[in-house]
Amino acid sequence: MANIKKSYSHIGILSAMPEEVGIILDNLESVSSVKFGDLELFSGKFVLDNSREILLTIGWSGWGKVSSARATTRLLTSGLNSTPIDLLIFTGVAGAVDPKLKMWDIILADSLIQHDMDARPIFDRFVIPALNNKKIIPNMDLIDKTFNQLNKKLSHLKLSKFGNLHKGLIATGDMFVSNTTKLHQLSKDISGLYAVEMEGAAFAQVAFQEKVKWLVLRIISDGANESASSDFDNFLTEYKSYSFELIRCLLNVLA
Ligand code: ADE
Repeated sequence: MANIKKSYSHIGILSAMPEEVGIILDNLESVSSVKFGDLELFSGKFVLDNSREILLTIGWSGWGKVSSARATTRLLTSGLNSTPIDLLIFTGVAGAVDPKLKMWDIILADSLIQHDMDARPIFDRFVIPALNNKKIIPNMDLIDKTFNQLNKKLSHLKLSKFGNLHKGLIATGDMFVSNTTKLHQLSKDISGLYAVEMEGAAFAQVAFQEKVKWLVLRIISDGANESASSDFDNFLTEYKSYSFELIRCLLNVLA
């Protein structure tokens, strides 16, 4: 299969929490960092399986849409490297809405929506005024090729923990969804919804408006139901030891 692009040379990776990307730091060479108030970004060289080096700049934004939009903007303009970022990734955990998703399943967003955006009656529910659209859609060529190649690589590597890879709609909002009533309401209001989280669509909006290619990759940590908060805590404790396996796999597929 043809490569997704000849090569990305500088990839920006964000997550909400250090457990989701922090361990990348141990795998970077010649690391430099910069602080913007309470946000620290790190940049360094990462060696791919084929020995090629790429630049990675990473950080954890904190929870929620404002934090992720702020970190995305800072990441794009950090000045940590003279080579501009040519791909942005947001990764981390999500709550399942579609019952076919199980814990440790992976979901690559083929679209995102801000489920708490409501500017009625001026705009329809969920329409993001700046985009005049409900959904933020990534470059579909990138998503399709990433999905196919990641699927192939995951089934070849047989990573011990991870489940199936899916592609679908993710909804973002400033709310940790932890009750079945809200879960069913979201599922009813947003047709085809796979999962919920709290940062992806804000990150995607900034990337889209800044005209930088982007993708959102999430791992299911809970069922967005009454046991979501304890499932989420337990999952995260375990996930931090495995998050890098998946990110390394993704980077090798992309670059
Ligand atoms: N991230 C992980 N689980 C979540 C949930 N249940 N609601 C919102 N964001 C999440």
